[in-house]
Parts: sequence; structure tokens; C-alpha cells
Amino acid sequence: MIAPVLLFIGLRYSERRRHVLKASEDVLLLEAGIEDLGEASVLLVTSFFGERNPSFLAVAAHREHRRLREHHGGDKHIQLIARSPAGDAVGYVDCDGRPSKSPGRPRPYVSDLAVREDYRRRGLATCLVQKCESIVKAWAFDRVFLKVEASNEAARKMYGELGYEVVAMDGAPSKQICTIKKSLL
Ligand SMILES: CC(C)(COP(=O)(O)OP(=O)(O)OC[C@H]1O[C@@H](n2cnc3c(N)ncnc32)[C@H](O)[C@@H]1OP(=O)(O)O)[C@@H](O)C(=O)NCCC(=O)NCCS
Repeated sequence: MIAPVLLFIGLRYSERRRHVLKASEDVLLLEAGIEDLGEASVLLVTSFFGERNPSFLAVAAHREHRRLREHHGGDKHIQLIARSPAGDAVGYVDCDGRPSKSPGRPRPYVSDLAVREDYRRRGLATCLVQKCESIVKAWAFDRVFLKVEASNEAARKMYGELGYEVVAMDGAPSKQICTIKKSLL
């Protein structure tokens, strides 16, 4: 059973990275409570649509906040938030092992992965995904799924390095979505 409030303190995710963080810059990785989801929504929207205008981002963040709140809680479901020493939300991911309501959503499923721009390329996303993998294993699953846009080269490279393989492609030709899978055996 995952501790309900605090998962890890001072997680040193960057040890094998070029940009080694100082101890004082360590990131806290926490199970997100409902009160964290507003910041998580802003992080998601700015990470995925950062170049769009502020009013678009405000509306999108509002919609995301509602979606994350509705999705919150439940057995075999966890939302993780990474916080900087100053307390800012710098990373987020959702890990869901609940039965799927839609045939297009394989389970267990990792989604909504985002890292704040100034915290990228330090291994934080890798750490978040690997943490989801351990959680999924603790739930007694032997594999995990993700979806990623075919054009998202940064994320695809990372998932490839983590051992994920493409098992399906769908969506419009202009916006192909890859379903990727990793065996945890
Ligand atoms: C994709 C994303 C989550 C990666 O976060 P991150 O913390 O920078 O990732 P990591 O530091 O763990 O990167 C691991 C590896 O992935 C690859 N990678 C990550 N970002 C990359 C980039 N911009 N260009 C090329 N390769 C990249 C590299 O191989 C990297 O290893 P390296 O830094 O030793 O070269 C982040 O860029 C992001 O939030 N993007 C916007 C939202 C998004 O696309 N989410 C994923 C949806 S499926």
C-alpha cells in the first residue's frame, strides 16, 4: 500500500545525469492531494501548450483542473507531483490501474506526464515514469501502457530508452498516436 501522503523525501533522481543537482536542489516526490491539482493543471497546460496565448492557457488550465479533480482518488490510482525545494510544482504524472471505461485506454496506464521547462533534461521525467512502474508492479501488474504523439520526439526517445515498445498506432494521419507498452516481468 502506498503511503497516503508522503512517498519520498529528497529523491536524488539526478545522480546518473550530466546536470547533477546540488543536495539543496533535490526534488520532493509526493502523492498529489486534491489541493495540488490546480498547480498540476497549470503545469500540464504550460508544458503541452506553452506557446499559446494566456487566455487560451487560462481556459485550458481551468478545464484541466476539473478533469484532474474528477479523476482523483480510487483504489489502484495515484497522481504524483514533484516539488522543488521552494515548493513549486515541477513535475506531474498519473498512474491508473483501475478498470478502463473506454476500450481505447489500456490498463495499467501512465498519462499526463509533464516536467516544468527549467527542470527538464535532469532525469525527472524518467524518475516519475520509473516510480509509476514500481507502483504498478506493487499492484501486481506485469506490464504498463502509455500513449504518446508520434511527433513527440523527446518523449518517444525517453520511452525508448526506458524499454517501451510501440504496440499500436491510431489517430488522424496528421496526429498519429502511439500506444506503447513495457513488460515489467
Ligand atoms: C517529455 C518530458 C516529460 C521529458 O522530461 P525530462 O525530465 O526532461 O526527461 P528526462 O530528463 O528524464 O529525459 C530522459 C531522456 O529522454 C530524452 N529526452 C528528453 N527530452 C528530450 C529532448 N527535448 N530532446 C531530445 N531528447 C530528449 C533524452 O534521451 C534524455 O536523456 P539525456 O538528458 O541523458 O539525453 C518533458 O520534455 C515535457 O514535459 N514535455 C512536454 C509534455 C510532454 O511531452 N509530455 C509527455 C507526453 S507522453
